[in-house]
Amino acid sequence: MASILVTGALGQIGSELVPALRDRYGADRVIATDLKVLPPGSAAALAPYGHLDCTEAHQLHEAVRRYAVGTIYHLAALLSASAEAAPQLAWSVNMSGLYNVLEVAREYGCQVFFPSSIGAFGPSTPRDATPQVTIQRPNTIYGVTKVAGELLCDYYASRFGIDTRGLRLPGLVSYVAAPGGGTTDYAVEMHYHAVRYASYSCFLAADTRLDMMYMPDALAAMIELMEADPARLNHRNAYNVTAMSVTPAEIADAIRRRIPGFAVEYDVDPVRQAIADSWPRSMDDSAAHADWGWAPRYDLEAMTEDMLRRLEDKLAAARKH
Ligand SMILES: NC(=O)c1ccc[n+]([C@@H]2O[C@H](COP(=O)([O-])OP(=O)(O)OC[C@H]3O[C@@H](n4cnc5c(N)ncnc54)[C@H](O)[C@@H]3O)[C@@H](O)[C@H]2O)c1
Repeated sequence: MASILVTGALGQIGSELVPALRDRYGADRVIATDLKVLPPGSAAALAPYGHLDCTEAHQLHEAVRRYAVGTIYHLAALLSASAEAAPQLAWSVNMSGLYNVLEVAREYGCQVFFPSSIGAFGPSTPRDATPQVTIQRPNTIYGVTKVAGELLCDYYASRFGIDTRGLRLPGLVSYVAAPGGGTTDYAVEMHYHAVRYASYSCFLAADTRLDMMYMPDALAAMIELMEADPARLNHRNAYNVTAMSVTPAEIADAIRRRIPGFAVEYDVDPVRQAIADSWPRSMDDSAAHADWGWAPRYDLEAMTEDMLRRLEDKLAAARKH
């Protein structure tokens, strides 16, 4: 059976996607790779794990050939805030990386998963019930690479018959790995700070409404999309998916219902606020529902309940060591 290669596997998504894929398809079949070089002990614990820079085409070729890879989950990228701080590097990693992945997929006939983002939309996009097909003129380098990436996936599907599939993911909330420099990182930090310090200084304004999703739903969406009947997929660039449309104040209230003394102050970062203000408030994900049965399992209350419980367990375990 062909293997599954994950690039950017040590990030917020990869840290949970790799174990989920290994549970489902077998540990030996899922090859985790990342730019980061791990010390030998950590690499052995994650095996099969290898260093792979997705901007180096020959490294991708070597991995796909060596492990007989049939599917690539291409997670390696710079996220929105990190990309804005280093636009040239973001173009190189996000675009050359995807191009190399698509080229190797063309050569070896691999299926490809590409995570697009709410960042693929911009200020001229309708911000409420954002349609599946609509104006995409982002004004961030991250968004530019996501739109170009969607188009490139579409092109490789129609021109070369490559089985590309993608999701426009919203902000992801999770407790395993820290987020990697995105505009929605506050939603994760708020839970951590609530458990540790009962207070948080938020870098977005209290009423900034954005789409969000809890990581278990994101993992399910990726796996369900990749297993979906190809004949039913009407979109090969990326599907809108969302689970909730919430503000920092609403997340803080949900936490406060469980940690009553939780205090939040707002110290707005103009760069990340401008990015958030250019993104949808709430996406219409009915195409994903119709084509491959997408349905989220976690709303704000269910997510907050689970997040806080997991973080309390994590903190208690850390105190024991
Ligand atoms: N986390 C979110 O909220 C979110 C939302 C929408 C879309 N996405 C997309 O999902 C993907 C994964 O996101 P994430 O949150 O796990 O990101 P992350 O920043 O946490 O992890 C990215 C990983 O990629 C690695 N990497 C960077 N440059 C690389 C290179 N040249 N070669 C190989 N690896 C490299 C990093 O070391 C890191 O481990 C990205 O494409 C991101 O744009 C994430």
